[in-house]
Amino acid sequence: MATLRPSSTGWALFLALLTILLCLVVPGEMVKHNNFKKCDQSGFCKRNRAYANSASNQGSSWSAPYHLDSSSVKFSNGQLLGTIVKTIENNEKVNLPLTVSFLESGVTRVTVDEEKRIKGDIELRHESKVRKERYNEAAKWTIVGGLELSSTAELVKETEAGVTKVFYGPNNKFQAIIRHSPFEVHFQRDGETHIQLNDKGFLNMEHWRPKVENPDREDNDSKDNVDDSTWWEESFGGNTDSKPRGPESVAMDITFPGYSHVFGIPEHADSLSLKETRGGDGHHTEPYRMYNSDVFEYELNSPMTLYGSIPFMQAHRKGSTVGVFWLNAAETWVDIVKTKASTNPLALGVSGKTSTQTHWFSEAGQLDVFVFLGPTPQDLSRTYGELTGYTQLPQHFAIGYHQCRWNYVTDEDVKDVDSKFDMYQIPYDVIWLDLEYTDQKKYFTWDPLTFPDPDGMQKQLDDSERKLVVIIDPHIKNEANYPIVEDMKSKGLAVKNKEGNIYDGWCWPGSSHWVDCFNPAAMSWWTTLFKYDKFKGTHPNMFIWNDMNEPSVFNGPETTMPKDNIHHGGWEHRDVHNVNGMTFVNATFNAMLERKRGEIRRPFILTRSFYAGTQRIGAMWTGDNQANWDHLAASLPMVLNNGIAGFPFAGADVGGFFGNPSKELLTRWYQTGIFYPFFRAHAHIDTRRREPYLAGEPHMSIITQALHLRYQLLPAWYTAFQQASVDGSPIVRPQYYVHPDDEAGFAIDDQLYLGSTGLLAKPVVTEGASSVDVYLADDEQYYDYFDYTVYQGAGKKHTVQAPLEKVPILMQGGHIIPRKDRPRRSSGLMKWDPFTLVVALDRNGQADGTLYVDDGETYDYQNGAYIHRRFSFSSSSLSSEDIGAKGTKTGQYLKTMAGVRVEKIIIVGAPAEWEGKSSVLVLEEGSHTGSQASLQWFAKQGGKAAYAVVKDPGVSIGNLWKIDFS
Ligand code: GLC
Repeated sequence: MATLRPSSTGWALFLALLTILLCLVVPGEMVKHNNFKKCDQSGFCKRNRAYANSASNQGSSWSAPYHLDSSSVKFSNGQLLGTIVKTIENNEKVNLPLTVSFLESGVTRVTVDEEKRIKGDIELRHESKVRKERYNEAAKWTIVGGLELSSTAELVKETEAGVTKVFYGPNNKFQAIIRHSPFEVHFQRDGETHIQLNDKGFLNMEHWRPKVENPDREDNDSKDNVDDSTWWEESFGGNTDSKPRGPESVAMDITFPGYSHVFGIPEHADSLSLKETRGGDGHHTEPYRMYNSDVFEYELNSPMTLYGSIPFMQAHRKGSTVGVFWLNAAETWVDIVKTKASTNPLALGVSGKTSTQTHWFSEAGQLDVFVFLGPTPQDLSRTYGELTGYTQLPQHFAIGYHQCRWNYVTDEDVKDVDSKFDMYQIPYDVIWLDLEYTDQKKYFTWDPLTFPDPDGMQKQLDDSERKLVVIIDPHIKNEANYPIVEDMKSKGLAVKNKEGNIYDGWCWPGSSHWVDCFNPAAMSWWTTLFKYDKFKGTHPNMFIWNDMNEPSVFNGPETTMPKDNIHHGGWEHRDVHNVNGMTFVNATFNAMLERKRGEIRRPFILTRSFYAGTQRIGAMWTGDNQANWDHLAASLPMVLNNGIAGFPFAGADVGGFFGNPSKELLTRWYQTGIFYPFFRAHAHIDTRRREPYLAGEPHMSIITQALHLRYQLLPAWYTAFQQASVDGSPIVRPQYYVHPDDEAGFAIDDQLYLGSTGLLAKPVVTEGASSVDVYLADDEQYYDYFDYTVYQGAGKKHTVQAPLEKVPILMQGGHIIPRKDRPRRSSGLMKWDPFTLVVALDRNGQADGTLYVDDGETYDYQNGAYIHRRFSFSSSSLSSEDIGAKGTKTGQYLKTMAGVRVEKIIIVGAPAEWEGKSSVLVLEEGSHTGSQASLQWFAKQGGKAAYAVVKDPGVSIGNLWKIDFS
C-alpha cells in the first residue's frame, strides 16, 4: 500500500480519503458480467439456440425428429399416454414417454420423459453415484393441489389420421389437437388456437448417449452439426462441471398466436411486459435467464437472472389471458420473439396481428409444462394458485412497516431506535437484525459483547406489540466447537460435493457447509434448532429472515454451488438448483410452527431466493438494489411482476441497499414503498444511518405522513392479502390485470391498483418531479384520495400534482375503502380501533367494497374466527352484509370484536340533494328502533367533488346493518 509522505498537502490527503470512502460506499454502476454466463457460455443454451436457428433457417424443409407413435396413444380417465419417438443418426430411435393430463381445473399438463434414463439403462461417468433418471421431483416441492384429472374430458372419435383431439375444460369448450408427426399440440378455446407447443419444431430432448472417446465428429452426432464441446464437461470461471450424465437438456417452443404481450417469469430487473430477446431495436440479445443467483450490483433493464425464479408466464391480449408454467428446477432460459402475421386470410383469426413465440430450455429434468387457457387474468391466478398454492395469509404485523439495516449494532442500539420512533411518533412494527447480532456469524448464537440482553430487547419491543426479525442463512460456519456444525456433520445433513464428501465453500462466516433441506432428516433437525430452549434468548415476537439461499457461495461458479454437488436422494445440484432456496424456507417455516408445543402462530419468513410455491411460506424482496432513482423506478415493475407470477408478498429495499439516498429520494422511496406488499427499509453496512427521524424537516414529517397512510389503509391491505390467500390474485395489480380490454394500458407498469379497492397509485420515481401523469383506462370518475378532485376521461393521461409532500393516489368511483384513521405506534396497537369507510360513488351513485378482519396471528380463521363483510351503497342506502362462512370459532371471535365499530363514513361524490340534510337513519341487527347519526354535507368546489360525512353511526363492524340516506 502506498504511504502518504508528510509533505502531502491536506488536499491530497482529503482526496485520497474521499476516493477510498467512495470506493467503499458507492458501488460501481455495473454488475460484473464476467461472473455470470451469457447464453453462449452455457453449453445447453448455446446448443438450443443454435438448434432453433437451424430449424428456422431450414424453413419449411425443416423436419423435426419427434413423432408421436400413433399406435402407442391411449386415452382414459382424463389422461392420454403415448410414446414420442425421436429419430437420431443411423435411424436409431429414442423412446420418450408422453403423458398429457387434462385436469379438472381446465389446465393441461404435458410431461415427456426418457425411457432409457427412467429404466436406469445408462452409464454414469467418473464412477458417479448420482441418480440416473431425469429429475422428477420438482412437483413434489412445488405442486400442492389441482391435479385431479378431468372426469369429462373426452377423446374426439372422428378425426383425421395422425391427429388426436381431446375436448376438455369448462363445458368441454377447450380442445387439445395433438399432431403426431411431427409432434405438436394446439390448444384451442371456443375453436380458436391460443397456445401452440412445438409449432416451430424446437422440441429438443438431449437423449442419453455414451461418450465416444476420440470422437469422430461425423459419427458422434448428428446431421445438425451440434456443438458437442460442452456435452461432457464445461468450464466457467475456473470451475469445471463434471457432468456425469452427459448432455440432457430439454427444450420446446411455445407460441401464443395473436398475443403481443407476455408477463411473468420473474425475477428480472426489467419491464413488466417482457421484451424480445433476439436483438433488434430496444430488444435484448440474451434470453431471460432463470438460475437463482446472488448478483452483486445487478443491472436494470436486463434479462439477466436474479435471486429467484418462477417459470410461469401469462400471455395477454384484449379479451383473453392464457399462460404456461414450465415446471423445471434446473437452469432455464427463455427466448421471446414477436412476429407480425401477414394479412394472409389463411392465418385464421390472427392475420395482421402480433404473435409471441417463446422458446424455453432447461439444462436437465423432465419436460413438464402446464397449459392455462384463461380466459381472464383472474382465471390464471386462481388455477396456477390451485397447483402451487396461494399466498400465505401473513400475520397482521407483517404488512406494517419494517425497519432494517445492516446492522443495528447492539441490543441498546435496537432499544434506542425503538424509543426514537416513539419519541418522533413514527409508526413501525418490526425491527431487524442482520448478520452482526451473531457470535462471529454462527447462526443460533448472540454476540455476547454486543447483544448480552436479547430478552430485555424483545421485551421492550413487545411492550408496544413490535417484533424482531433475525437473519439465519443456510451456510453453517465450519469451525471447531460450534455444536450446530458438528451436529450437522455427524448426522450427515449437509450438501455433498461430487466425491460424496461434505461440500465446503466460502460465505459470510468464511469456510462453511450447507444444510441440505431436501433431506427430511435435515428438516427435522432444523426444527429442533428454533425451540426456545435451543435458540436461547428468542421470544414469540421473533421471526426469521432467510438470506443467501440461492445458495450464495462466494467462491463457487457464478457465486453458487457447483452443479455436480450432490443432494439427498442422489440428485445433482444441477437438477434442483432453482428449488433449493425454497426448501430452506420450507424447513424454517416448519421449524417456526413448532417452536413450542401448543403455540401455533403463523410464521413470518423473508426469503431472497424463491421458486414457484414459495408464496405459501414467505415474503420476498428484490435483493441488493441501489440508492438511485432508476432502482426506485425499477422496483414497481418487479413487484408487480411477482404478483402476476403468484408471489405477491413482495417488496424492494426502501432507500436502496447500496449507497446513500438524497433526502428527496428517500422521501419518494417511502412514498413508493407504502405500496409494496412487503414494506421494509434496508441499507448496506457502509451506508449512513437513515431512520426516518434522521431525515430532518420537512422530510421527516413527509415520511411520517406516508407511513400513516400505509397504516391508515392496513384494513384494505389485509383484505387484499386475504383475497390473495384464497384466489391467488395479486395484492398490487398492474393496469392490464384490472382493465384487461384496454390495449393502451397493457404495457403500463409504473402505476398500480391496491387489491380490489379501486385505489390507483402512481408513485413519483423521478427526481425533481412535481406532478405525475396518471393513465385512466375507463370513463369512471376518479377522485383524488386527499381532496376529492375529480379526474375523468378514458384512454388518456391526467396530470396530478405531486409536490414532495404528496403521494398521487386516486380512488376509482364505485368502491368502498375500509380504513383506520387513528395513528398508533404499531399495527398491534390498532387492533381494537374503530373503522372509517370511504365510499367513492360511481357515475350511477353506487359503490361496494369488502373488509376482512381476523386476529392477525393464529390459524383460528380456519375455524371461522374472522369477519368478512361486503359493504354496498345503492339507492341512497349503505349496508353491510356477511360474506364469510361460519365455523366453530365464529361466535367467540365476534364476541371479542363486538366493541369494534365504524366511527366515520365519508361519501365522496355525494348527491346535491343531500344539501341541508343533517342526519341519517341507522338500523343495526339486534336493535329494533334504529337510531340517528349526524350527516354533514360539503358542496362541490372547483374541480372537487361534493362529499358528506356521517359521524359515529355506532354500528359494530361484525354486525348486519344498514344506513338510510334518503
Ligand atoms: C445480502 C443481502 C442483504 C444483507 C446482506 C448481509 O447482501 O441481500 O440484504 O444485508 O447480505 O446479510
